Amino acid sequence: MNRPRILVARAIPEKVLHFLQQHAEVRDNQQHDVSWDQETLIAQLQGMDGLLATGTQRIDAALLAACPQLKVVANMTVGFNNLDVQALSAAGVQGTNAPDVLTETTADFGFALLMATARRITESEHYLRAGLWRQWRYDMFVGAEVHSSTLGIIGMGRIGQAIARRAALGFGMRVLYHNRSRLAPQVEAACQAQYVDKATLLQQADHVMLVLPYTPENHYAIGAAELALMRPTATLINIARGGIVDDAALAQALQAGRIAAAGLDVFEGEPQVHPDLLACRNVVLTPHIASATVATRHAMAQLAADNLLAVLGGKAPLTPVNTPDPAARAQRWSLA
Ligand code: DGY
Repeated sequence: MNRPRILVARAIPEKVLHFLQQHAEVRDNQQHDVSWDQETLIAQLQGMDGLLATGTQRIDAALLAACPQLKVVANMTVGFNNLDVQALSAAGVQGTNAPDVLTETTADFGFALLMATARRITESEHYLRAGLWRQWRYDMFVGAEVHSSTLGIIGMGRIGQAIARRAALGFGMRVLYHNRSRLAPQVEAACQAQYVDKATLLQQADHVMLVLPYTPENHYAIGAAELALMRPTATLINIARGGIVDDAALAQALQAGRIAAAGLDVFEGEPQVHPDLLACRNVVLTPHIASATVATRHAMAQLAADNLLAVLGGKAPLTPVNTPDPAARAQRWSLA
């Protein structure tokens, strides 16, 4: 292939865009035009060999059929629930994601959100800014202890493990975890985490942190029944994906005092946020920024660019999420 043609679906760091432009014909969307619906995305993709996606573009069988030249879709996010992996494989298209480069940054944010939620930082700041602070009181914004408490992590991949290390080694916390499969003993030992079933974790944890991928099986992994198992003094932190928590049930639990507080970076149907959550005093809300540092967002986009150029240069992808069907792949490459 001469110079491959690549569509960049949303704005990315300038440096990475320039890098891509040195190696490919690039159609970009640096103006952050978010009005692209599926039809517009398909129109923009005509004649394109690769797509740099930001994790929100839905890549399904219909889109792939309408874009016969598309050979690779590279997400600049670690989560890839926007990709229909089976459809990609069947259509002979390579999918990639962006793991590892955001692990520590996202773990930092998980911990920051835990601290802000348990120690009521944003709630107390709003009070101060509203001019309501008149005197020091022993019971003003008393929250939950973080150090030496019990953290329950659901989803113990790379980010979950990085959070566990912070908790156990930095804050002297007891760490429980639940995961699809139990970790190897040496990995458990390195993050001083103990495997338990989900119900035990929910019952025993002072703080519950969600770091699991969104899959149909994980839809509403935390709903009314799970919230009912948690301690009334507990906090719930979601830095995973919207749809893993039933946001309406969570708002009810927060309003009824069934749990103490929640910290949420992701939402069902984001950027919309459930109105009942917005009305809750005891919730910290952030707009899906867990990986948002300058360096990490650059590294995520660069990894997506590297994946695109590797695949379109005939090399193996760095971080694949699927294995394309060889015959369907050959068909697409014959259209180059
Ligand atoms: C990811 O990489 O999946 C994050 O949610 C985006 O920051």
